Amino acid sequence: MTLAEHPVSTGPTGLAATAADHLWMHFTRMGRAAEHPVPIITKGEGVYIYDDKGRRILDGLSGLFVVQVGHGRRELAEVAAKQAEELAFFPIWGYAHPHAIRLAERLAGEAPGDLNRVFFTTGGGEAVESAWKVAKQYFKLLGKPLKHKVISRATAYHGTPQGALAITGLPAMKQDFEPLTPGGHRVPNTNIYRATEHAEDAKAFGRWAADRIEEAILFEGPATVAAVVLEPVQNSGGCFTPPPGYFDRVREICDKYDVLLVSDEVICGFGRHGTTFACEKFGFVPDIITCAKGMTSGYSPIGAMIATDRIIEPFLADKVVFPHGYTFAGHPVSAAVAMANLDIMDREGLHQRVLDNQDAFQATLEKLTDLPIVGDVRGDGYFWAIELVADQGTKLTLDADQRERLIKGFLPGTLFENGLYCRPDDRGDPVIQLAPPLTCGQAEFDEMEQILRATLTEAWTLL
Ligand SMILES: Cc1ncc(COP(=O)(O)O)c(C=O)c1O
Repeated sequence: MTLAEHPVSTGPTGLAATAADHLWMHFTRMGRAAEHPVPIITKGEGVYIYDDKGRRILDGLSGLFVVQVGHGRRELAEVAAKQAEELAFFPIWGYAHPHAIRLAERLAGEAPGDLNRVFFTTGGGEAVESAWKVAKQYFKLLGKPLKHKVISRATAYHGTPQGALAITGLPAMKQDFEPLTPGGHRVPNTNIYRATEHAEDAKAFGRWAADRIEEAILFEGPATVAAVVLEPVQNSGGCFTPPPGYFDRVREICDKYDVLLVSDEVICGFGRHGTTFACEKFGFVPDIITCAKGMTSGYSPIGAMIATDRIIEPFLADKVVFPHGYTFAGHPVSAAVAMANLDIMDREGLHQRVLDNQDAFQATLEKLTDLPIVGDVRGDGYFWAIELVADQGTKLTLDADQRERLIKGFLPGTLFENGLYCRPDDRGDPVIQLAPPLTCGQAEFDEMEQILRATLTEAWTLL
C-alpha cells in the first residue's frame, strides 16, 4: 500500500501510519502505535532537533548518547560525501584503507598505557562481543583454556548480541532469549544512593563494591574467569559514578587473578566526561576499551575494541588468526568521518568545555531537588540522571503502576511536547537521563531545568 492509499483514521496518519505498518522499531511497544503515533524527527541543527510538524526540541540525549558535536555539521557531511566518492567501501579483512589505519593510530595515541591495537566494529554491542571473544581466545593461546567467564554489574547494559547480552545485567531484557552464551556473572553496581552498606562513606562503599568482584572470581574459580566488564559511569540504573578508590581496587583484583579489565566506554568515551576515554578521568588503565557512539558523533556508524600490547602479542605468532570480523567494520566513510569529528572536538576544545561546565550543569539540575518527586541527581561530565521517588525522605521508589503511568506514559510524551528530548528509564529505579551535545552551555542547562521543572511538577500530581 502506498502512502497516498493509506486509510485516514483517528490514529496516526501519513508517515507515522506507514511506520506503524512497516517499521519494526527497536525496544518499542509497537502494539500502541495506533493510539500513539511515533514522533518523526526530520532535521537536526546544533543542539536542537525538529519534528515533522516543524517543532523545535532540545536534544537532551545527543540522539542516544551519540551526537557529541551537535547536529547539522556540514563539514562532516562533506567529508562523508568525499570519502564515498573516493572509496565507498573496502573491508579490513587482509586489506586496509588509509582512514582506518590513521584512525587506529589516533585512537591508540589517545588511549592510556599500551592500549595500542584497534579492532573496528560497526557499533558498541559488537565491540563488547569482540572483547569477550578476544579474551577467550587470548587465554586459550596462553594455555589457559578454562578462562572464559565474564563478570559484570547488576542493571548494566552492554548490548544486544547474545554474548554482550549475557554480560548485560538486566534479567527482563534477557529472558526471552535464554539460554544465552554461558559464562556471564553479576556483581553489585555502585549505586550509593541505594547502598545497603556503607551508604555514608563513599570510600568504604567503593571498597565493598569492588570486593564483590573478588568474591565472584573466587566463587567461580579464578582459572575460569577471563574478564571483568564495567562502564566507568554505569548508564543503566542512572549514571552510577565510581566511588573513590573503586577502580584502583578493581585493577588490583584483576591483576591478582589474571583477569582482563574491560572498560566499556560506548557512552562514556569521546568527551562525554571531558576526556577521550573516561578511564583516564577516573584514573585507571584497562586491558581493553570498547567504544562507539560519539566516535563519529553519529554522522556514520562505527565502533571499536582497543587492546593492549600484551593481548595482541599471542595473536602475532605465526599462522594465528582471530577468526572474527564484520563486513562494515572500520568502514572508510565512517573512519573518515571519525577523524573529522575528532578534529572538531580538538579544534573547538569540547573536552575542556565539558570539564569547565560540568559543575554548572550539576548545580542547575540540583535546583530540581526542591521538587518532592526528585530523589537524587547524580552523574559526571555531560551525563546525568535524576532519580524519581514517591517520597524524598524515605527514598520510596515508584510502584509498578506509577512507573507505567509516568515512565512509559506521561513523561516521554510530555517532555517532548514541552520541548525536551531526553530519556525516562526504569530498567533500574526510575530515572530521567540527560546527555546533551558537548556544545551545550548554561543557556541549554537552564532550558532543560525549566522544562523538567514544569513537567515533573505536573507528574507529581499524577502519582
Ligand atoms: C555501555 C554500552 N555498551 C554497549 C552498548 C551497545 O551499543 P550498540 O547499540 O551500538 O550496539 C551500549 C548502547 O547503548 C552501551 O551503552
